[in-house]
Amino acid sequence: MIPIRLATTKDAAEIATMSRDFIESGLGWSWNTLRVVRAVWDPDTVVAVSTCKKTISGFAIMIFREHTAHLNLLAVKPKHRRQGIGKYLVKWLEESAKTAGTFQLSLEVRESNIAAQAFYESLGYKQTRKISGYYQQTESAVRMTRNISVLKNSTPG
Ligand SMILES: CC(C)(COP(=O)(O)OP(=O)(O)OC[C@H]1O[C@@H](n2cnc3c(N)ncnc32)[C@H](O)[C@@H]1OP(=O)(O)O)[C@@H](O)C(=O)NCCC(=O)NCCS
Repeated sequence: MIPIRLATTKDAAEIATMSRDFIESGLGWSWNTLRVVRAVWDPDTVVAVSTCKKTISGFAIMIFREHTAHLNLLAVKPKHRRQGIGKYLVKWLEESAKTAGTFQLSLEVRESNIAAQAFYESLGYKQTRKISGYYQQTESAVRMTRNISVLKNSTPG
């Protein structure tokens, strides 16, 4: 089992740095420490971190609305990749979403990020549309969604 816990404000700087280096590279840094702190304190947002020997190996941020949830950010540190951590973080959030009565999950991923698109497709997410200029007018996004309303009896795996 991969240890996962809710992030605290003490984790915010490290999460923000991971966002800058692994997700927003080449774009302006929008998920700075203050924005992550706000997400940690936002009652409609879950900021989760996976840990390895008590250090952060990955994180994910998901915002919950009435019947939908949106995965804002997800990253795993390079040396921990391809060990199932990203998948486990998403499944963990999907379980939280199901408990909250969510029916549909969505996310945007950079058009150039083919690896992440393959990752989400492996988890059952489908590409639904392309959004031109989504990232600071410099790069398009691919929106991906997954309907979880039919998965009530599934368990993370
Ligand atoms: C995308 C990311 C979160 C995946 O995390 P991860 O922990 O390495 O992923 P997992 O080990 O759980 O992979 C699960 C499955 O996804 C697919 N997958 C993962 N990484 C992949 C890659 N680089 N290329 C193709 N498929 C990939 C595979 O099917 C994999 O199963 P397998 O290893 O048994 O073949 C990680 O590569 C990352 O942090 N990338 C940089 C940040 C980013 O792009 N975030 C997403 C956009 S916000």
